[in-house]
Parts: sequence; C-alpha cells; structure tokens
Amino acid sequence: MKLTGNTIFITGGGSGIGRGLAEALHQRGNQVIISGRRADRLQATIDANPGMRAVSLDITDATDIQAVAAKLIAEYPGLNVLINNAGVMYPDGAQGPVDDDLLRTTVDTNLLGPIRMTSALIEHLKSREDAVVANVTSVLGFVPLAVAAVYSATKAALHSYTLSQRYLLRDSKVSFIEIAPPWVRTELMNSSEEQRAMPLDAFITEAIAQLGTSANEILVGPAVDMRANPGPGEHAFIEAFNDGFAAG
Ligand SMILES: NC(=O)c1ccc[n+]([C@@H]2O[C@H](COP(=O)([O-])OP(=O)(O)OC[C@H]3O[C@@H](n4cnc5c(N)ncnc54)[C@H](OP(=O)(O)O)[C@@H]3O)[C@@H](O)[C@H]2O)c1
Repeated sequence: MKLTGNTIFITGGGSGIGRGLAEALHQRGNQVIISGRRADRLQATIDANPGMRAVSLDITDATDIQAVAAKLIAEYPGLNVLINNAGVMYPDGAQGPVDDDLLRTTVDTNLLGPIRMTSALIEHLKSREDAVVANVTSVLGFVPLAVAAVYSATKAALHSYTLSQRYLLRDSKVSFIEIAPPWVRTELMNSSEEQRAMPLDAFITEAIAQLGTSANEILVGPAVDMRANPGPGEHAFIEAFNDGFAAG
C-alpha cells in the first residue's frame, strides 16, 4: 500500500500495536483517526501526535459501529484505509467448560468487530482510490496456542474471512492486507515486559516497511515460520510449539 496521503481509521489505536501503527503512519503524512473505549488512552495518543484525531468506539457494539462509520464518512470523506486492529486475548481453559462471557467478548471483539466495521465502511471504501482494509490477525491463527483456544480460533476465522473478501473484491479498488504479528511486547496478556516477545518498536518498523510493498500478508520475524506451518506436518509443529510455550 502507499504509505503517504491516506486517511486512515485504526481501531484500538490508543495502545500497543494500534498506537505504534498510528504514530508511524501519522509521521508519514497520513490523516490518522484512532478509536477505542478508554478516553484517556486516546487523548494521550492524540496529544503526543498533533493532527491525529480520535473517536470513541466499542467494537463489540454493532450500533456504535454504524454510528461511528457514518460519522467518519461525513467528517472524513477521503477515508480510504481501515485497519481492524482492536483485539482481546484471555487464557480460556478449553480443556473444560469455557466461560460464556469470555467466549462472547472474544468473538464479538476479534471476529464480529472487524467484520461489522468492514461491512459498515466497504461501500464507501469501494469509491476511494488506493483503498485498503488491513486486518490484524495473529500467528496464533496458524498455530493455535492451546491455552488461548478461543482467541486462536477467532484469528484463524479472521484470516479466512480476509481471504474471502480479497477474492470477492479482486477487481475492485480495495486491497485486503493481513497483518499477522508474532508475540509482541504490549499489554495483551500482560506481555509489556515479556523477554520472549518482540519489542514493539522493532515490530512496527518492520511491519511498516512491509506495508510499503505490495505484500498482502505482513509477516515479521518469527511469524514467517509460523505462517508456513499449516499442512500435513501441523500436528507435530503445534505440539512442539505448545510444549515450548508451557516450558517457559
Ligand atoms: N501483542 C501480541 O503479541 C500480538 C500478537 C498477535 C496479534 N496481536 C493482535 O494485535 C492487536 C492489538 O493488540 P496489542 O498487542 O496492541 O494489545 P493492546 O495494547 O491490548 O491493544 C488492544 C487494543 O484493542 C482495543 N480494544 C479492545 N477491546 C475493544 C473494544 N471492545 N472496543 C474497542 N477497542 C477495543 C483496546 O482499546 P480499549 O481497551 O481502550 O478499548 C486496545 O487499544 C490485537 O488484535 C491482537 O490480537 C497482538
């Protein structure tokens, strides 16, 4: 995708990967609008990046999504890029009964949220030049982390949905990009200080470099091998991956 001159809406832009992408794209001369639930995080981010804008949005709320999409189209008619980044991740104990609130929250946020957000903006995006929908999935969509089985399943589903939309809109002006991060130091699963995870800055630098190419999958560092795993050997790969994670 082109890296300058866009109008970009990013969900979950007040922290972590979303904030990192927002700041990097803001610095490259794009009008960036971030969203999320925590007003203090959104405010801190736009205060640090003059010209960036923010809008409150709970991505689990279908009515809120419709209202925000209408507001975006009215106030930013040049909007041509949607980055579906907001997500939650919890250990879910799928070896036993899964808590229904956890299940609903995770699916509503990670799967229904991006689908609804894209649905609300897709007709507008089709009318824009250089339009992009970028979905932030995860390497765990390709190699499930068993202790976060629901999360992993939502990311596999979003990968699948991205493939369908890329096919359906192959002759349109809208490109579909999947960003599948490896483990990155953010607040997700309290990983800000996790030494096994990739530093956020390093991830953002490489992700932006890849976004500036024609790649439709953004795979940074360990994500390359994880992405290549699915196939006949996946059971052994998944077992080794989960054994390694459990060993610490
Ligand atoms: N960090 C990793 O290792 C890693 C690896 C692979 C994929 N990812 C993916 O990267 C994305 C960003 O995560 P992160 O690591 O940057 O963690 P993070 O700092 O916790 O960011 C998650 C963002 O999602 C927003 N969010 C959560 N629930 C929301 C809701 N109901 N409505 C609106 N916004 C909501 C949060 O904002 P509010 O709480 O203010 O709403 C927050 O800004 C997620 O999709 C995650 O699955 C992360």
